Amino acid sequence: MNLSNNKILITGGATGIGFALAERFARENNSVIICGRRESALQEAAQKLPSTITRACDLSLAEEREDLFKWIAREHADLNVLVNNAGIQQWMSVSDDNFFHRAKEEITTNIEAPVHLISLFLQLDSLNTIINVGSGLSFSPLAKVPVYCATKAFIHSLTLSLRYLLKARDIDVIELIPPALNTDLGGKGIHDSAPPVSDFIEAAFEQLKQGKSQITFGFSEAMIKAGPAELQAAFDRMNPQ
Ligand SMILES: NC(=O)c1ccc[n+]([C@@H]2O[C@H](COP(=O)([O-])OP(=O)(O)OC[C@H]3O[C@@H](n4cnc5c(N)ncnc54)[C@H](OP(=O)(O)O)[C@@H]3O)[C@@H](O)[C@H]2O)c1
Repeated sequence: MNLSNNKILITGGATGIGFALAERFARENNSVIICGRRESALQEAAQKLPSTITRACDLSLAEEREDLFKWIAREHADLNVLVNNAGIQQWMSVSDDNFFHRAKEEITTNIEAPVHLISLFLQLDSLNTIINVGSGLSFSPLAKVPVYCATKAFIHSLTLSLRYLLKARDIDVIELIPPALNTDLGGKGIHDSAPPVSDFIEAAFEQLKQGKSQITFGFSEAMIKAGPAELQAAFDRMNPQ
């Protein structure tokens, strides 16, 4: 993708990886729109990055996804990049009472929302890039976040098909595959011992500049290259008996 002069929507762009992407893209002379549920988080992000346009929306609701798209089509019809970054992570066991309820929330936010947004935003003539945020956990799951890992495996698979299907329309489909990073994903404190987002973002932009479509770093780079024995060893390490 061309890294400058784009108009970009980053879902979940007020915090963590989404905000770091927003900052980096803004520095490269792009116009950035961010969305998320919490008005307070959006306002805080806009204070740090005044050039950003914000929009509150709950992407777990189909009507709000449609409203977001209608607003973009009306006010920002030149939008050319969609970044499906918003996501949630639920730490749970399959025997928890509320397992199914929480699994459904994760499936709605991490799968249904990006699938719906992709089908809506493909209606924009200007769209030329889709970036889906996956995870290193799509290759070797952590059983404490069982549905989360499966949603990211879905995103990986879908991204491969979309890249093939949208080639004819000249739409770049990129998968950003972070390793564990220090954000509030899964709840405050859970990722505190993980490395900062900044190193990943720098490495990601370097790879984007090189024209790569699968952006990996550290653990995710190792996992995407791993054979069956290495994947099994990683699984055993992450999920000790
Ligand atoms: N941090 C890691 O270790 C890691 C590793 C691999 C992949 N990832 C992926 O990176 C992406 C960003 O996560 P992060 O680590 O940066 O965590 P984060 O700071 O918690 O970011 C998630 C963002 O998604 C937004 N969001 C969640 N549910 C939403 C909904 N229903 N509607 C609209 N926005 C919603 C949140 O804003 P609101 O709460 O205000 O809605 C938040 O800004 C996720 O897809 C995650 O799975 C993270």
